[in-house]
Amino acid sequence: MTTRVLTGITTSGTPHLGNYVGAVRPAVAASRNPGVESFYFLADLHSLIKAQDPARTQRSTLEIAATWLAAGLEPDKVWFYRQSDIPEITELTWFLTCVASKGILNRAHAYKAAVDKNRADGEDDDAAVTAGLFMYPVLMAADILIFNANQVPVGRDQIQHIEMARDFGQRFNHVYGKEYFALPEVLIDDNVATLPGLDGRKMSKSYNNTIPLFVPREELKKLVFSILTDSRGPGEAKDTEGSALFQLYQAFASAEETAAFAQAFADGIGWGDAKQKLFERIDAEITPLRERYLALMARPEEIEAILRDGAQRLRMKYAIPLLTELRHAVGLRNLAEQPAAPTKAATAKAALPQFKQYRDKDARFYFKFTDADGQLLIQSNGFDAPKDAGQIIAVLKQAERADQLETTEIVLQVPVAEVLAALKQLRDAEA
Ligand code: TRP
Repeated sequence: MTTRVLTGITTSGTPHLGNYVGAVRPAVAASRNPGVESFYFLADLHSLIKAQDPARTQRSTLEIAATWLAAGLEPDKVWFYRQSDIPEITELTWFLTCVASKGILNRAHAYKAAVDKNRADGEDDDAAVTAGLFMYPVLMAADILIFNANQVPVGRDQIQHIEMARDFGQRFNHVYGKEYFALPEVLIDDNVATLPGLDGRKMSKSYNNTIPLFVPREELKKLVFSILTDSRGPGEAKDTEGSALFQLYQAFASAEETAAFAQAFADGIGWGDAKQKLFERIDAEITPLRERYLALMARPEEIEAILRDGAQRLRMKYAIPLLTELRHAVGLRNLAEQPAAPTKAATAKAALPQFKQYRDKDARFYFKFTDADGQLLIQSNGFDAPKDAGQIIAVLKQAERADQLETTEIVLQVPVAEVLAALKQLRDAEA
């Protein structure tokens, strides 16, 4: 069976070298792996949450599509499309919205950060928070679940979103009694470099320290020469460690070239010469891409056609058949149709709340407590050993009062009364 790998690209801003090294280049390389079916899409609906300047949204979508194509993504070998060209994603978002628990969305990092900031500023909790920001994780879950993606390569900041996608998918499967959705796994690549910016901090638009990917050659040179260095003169040995210049070089050079560059540092290469070498190394890799990029940007109608074609084929092959099935599953049906036999969910013997122990990617031990519908009630923190988790579970199983749930090892996901009721239900059933 092929593994389906899917990732979304937020269409905001102009791509910089950090995006290229950290996301575009590894993804294009991974898309050539055998045995994978890759999905890369422009998350333009997501971008509306932050960007409400239509001209910029359009421009950014074009630039980012051209960047991925210029970097070598092959639209006849991978699925390359624009989220907004697949209306079934938005329809699925609503189906998932109706099974998603609001309590979980309340805990989404981005939303919580907005609330925390409002509190710190003495504002109303939800001041200037749109429902779009709040619903972001549900739209993202629809992106992933609609194509039954198995793996989702993302940055660490997105792990929670993938967990939510699993949660919503699982709840939908449970409520409608069939494995409609595969549950996605997050894929974190720790080998991918985070690139330093001009000032040595992580290259990021928010630090205003980026080198845009496709600036003209002369501009690239100027930017490289503006990279912050220490004051050591030519002839003085230089540290590679903590040197932004060195790290940038390493991200573009082979192991041998990097070793030679390190030697040059030890031998006291002057900063001007080192910058010249870095500029030439980056430029050698980027020049062919830049040429393709400029050619593509001059023919936006071709990019438009590529994206539409990808979305059209995907809709025919996966999205429309799935949504036809899901509409039927939820009961949005032809009224003349005979009602089917009761679903598995309806006939299955009454499920119970349960504790589930598991080990996560961080190698620590966790547990969850879910109710009969699979809704998350308690999430534990990580433990060093399974028996530590087991001890807390044993205590929780006996809990009858709110104060017995007061431990820093767990986070309640719903009001205390609901948790206590579920614990009682479990005890009654086990008695
Ligand atoms: N939220 C992701 C980011 O900010 C972008 C994204 C949207 C995405 N939908 C997705 C990533 C689906 C993976 C899968 O980077």
